[in-house]
Amino acid sequence: MSEENLQKNIESSEILGKILFPGKDIQRKVRELGNKITRDYYGEELILVCILRGAVVFLTDLIKHIDLPLSIDFMSISSYGFNEPDSGLVKITKDLDENIAGKHVLIVEDIIDTGLTISYMIRNLALREPSSIEICTLIDREVRRIASLKIKYSAFKLEEKYVVGYGLDYKQKYRNLESIYELKTDTVKKDIESLKSSLNK
Ligand code: IMP
Ligand code: MG
Repeated sequence: MSEENLQKNIESSEILGKILFPGKDIQRKVRELGNKITRDYYGEELILVCILRGAVVFLTDLIKHIDLPLSIDFMSISSYGFNEPDSGLVKITKDLDENIAGKHVLIVEDIIDTGLTISYMIRNLALREPSSIEICTLIDREVRRIASLKIKYSAFKLEEKYVVGYGLDYKQKYRNLESIYELKTDTVKKDIESLKSSLNK
């Protein structure tokens, strides 16, 4: 969606706040991450595991900057506890198609908040005996972290803000924006905790 057109859209302007990460900055950071991953995994074969759906946009840009033999796979996860968003109870709704035993796995995520979703994933994937598992996230919102995690690659840090664009959604919309926007929290505040527990996990 063109961002100019979007700004003219009345519904959107009630929801979208200011741009936090402009598309150009995102592209630059993604290229830097891709270059770093290329250097770090030189001589190795890599499998990127993308967490659906939010990380898809990030993944497709990132792989263009990784100059290694690699494959991609997808996993989808949903949280169990609607009333307990931070319970850490999650289930796999779409599992990997590939066997990751003996491979270097890099999990590609859009945003890590409490870290509970990804720490469940890591425990689950580790049972399949990959050579290594690391995390690459577009956004690291460390202030709300519950699970202890080592994040090898992250493009941006964020405070207590709910964001959309570049793959990240609000009620399944706005994933197609080039930039990342803050949500107008007074409009949507009441939704945020239920959103986190019900959508896109
Ligand atoms: P965690 O288990 O608390 O780390 O949850 C992370 C997941 O919550 C991400 O994969 C997103 O799907 C979702 N999420 C968290 N914060 C945001 C946000 O600001 N915008 C859109 N989705 C978010
Ligand atoms: Mg997600």
